[in-house]
Amino acid sequence: MQRRSVYLDHSASTPVDPRVLDAMMPYFTDVYGNASSAHRYGRDAERAVEDARETVAGVLNCKPSEIIFTSGGSESDNLAIRGVAWSARQARGANHLITTPIEHSAVTKTVGQLAAVMGFEQTILPVDRVGMVDVEDFGNALRPTTALATIIYANNEVGTIEPIPQLAALAHDQGVLFHTDAVQAGGQLSLDVQALGCDLMSLSAHKFYGPKGVGVLYARNGIKPLPSHSGGSHEDGRRAGTHNTPGIVGLAKALELAYDELDERMAHYRTMRDHLIDGVLSRVPGAQLTGHPEQRLPSHTSFVFDGIDGNMLLMHLDLKGIAASSGSACKTGNPEPSGVLLAMGCDPELAKGSLRLTVGMQTTEDDIDYAVATLAETVGKLHRLRMN
Ligand SMILES: Cc1ncc(COP(=O)(O)O)c(C=O)c1O
Repeated sequence: MQRRSVYLDHSASTPVDPRVLDAMMPYFTDVYGNASSAHRYGRDAERAVEDARETVAGVLNCKPSEIIFTSGGSESDNLAIRGVAWSARQARGANHLITTPIEHSAVTKTVGQLAAVMGFEQTILPVDRVGMVDVEDFGNALRPTTALATIIYANNEVGTIEPIPQLAALAHDQGVLFHTDAVQAGGQLSLDVQALGCDLMSLSAHKFYGPKGVGVLYARNGIKPLPSHSGGSHEDGRRAGTHNTPGIVGLAKALELAYDELDERMAHYRTMRDHLIDGVLSRVPGAQLTGHPEQRLPSHTSFVFDGIDGNMLLMHLDLKGIAASSGSACKTGNPEPSGVLLAMGCDPELAKGSLRLTVGMQTTEDDIDYAVATLAETVGKLHRLRMN
């Protein structure tokens, strides 16, 4: 088999769209002023930031003043959770947070730190075998003292899409604020915050063909998270730091393109994804799909392979030019099973053989055929090595 290069890790990051790069370039060179400066250079940069804010607000169906630009998904999650938890405690003594065991670490560790250091109580809801939160469980967990519920929109490891509108509506019935980490959903699922009903939502540009290091926190008017890092009064006092003008312009352009071209892109993603799932399940011995079979991100496939070390598999795939990822961030030879898969009730041994393959705009049917053939050959080889 000829060696080639196939990138199937679009959930980790995407390349910057050349149209996005073109939009950003003048803000590195010509329009380099600080968006907070009073002179012409500053005003030009400020105009670009405010235009970008309007563009983002258009996609999210909200007011520009509800958009906070950040340095990415992690910061948006931190600001939403820490900022709202602090302000809710200050305002009304709220001391309870609700989350799930399948959040990104930017959520899990922030909630965990609030519990460990500041005495917040946390309810970590169970999920079922396909990674779905139960709406009734969620309703039962809400308390008068709940400061915030934070539930991921679409999971990064297994692609499962959570029922955000139902969960947000239940939270509101009890007067509880609702945050969703929409980092993986960005560029693929509806981000209409009125339809979703969320009060806060995190996004990151590099997941939808924008630049790295820039993100958005949507915060409904009236919600003022206490800044999680303090300094200047940028972003209406909600997030200190000189604006990343080129990044913000790039984020807005990437988001606009993603939603202008959504139908076309999603049709392509779904075709590639389904071809990949069919190929892997029919040709790779011991393969099982993880996550929800239908309620999953259009770009997303994830599997476990019986009797396989996921890191060994990744290494072999890399040698064949295939960029993929596993659910577990662990060292070769001593794999720790993914916490997400364990929370879904996956057998710990099986969970050690996890693999995530995520498609993008440039993925071709040929790429998929090559990946499936390589995976079948590699898994077969690893099985034989294990037997000897
Ligand atoms: C679900 C989710 N949340 C948050 C993040 C963090 O985003 P960023 O890389 O922009 O900090 C990621 C990144 O992979 C993610 O998948």
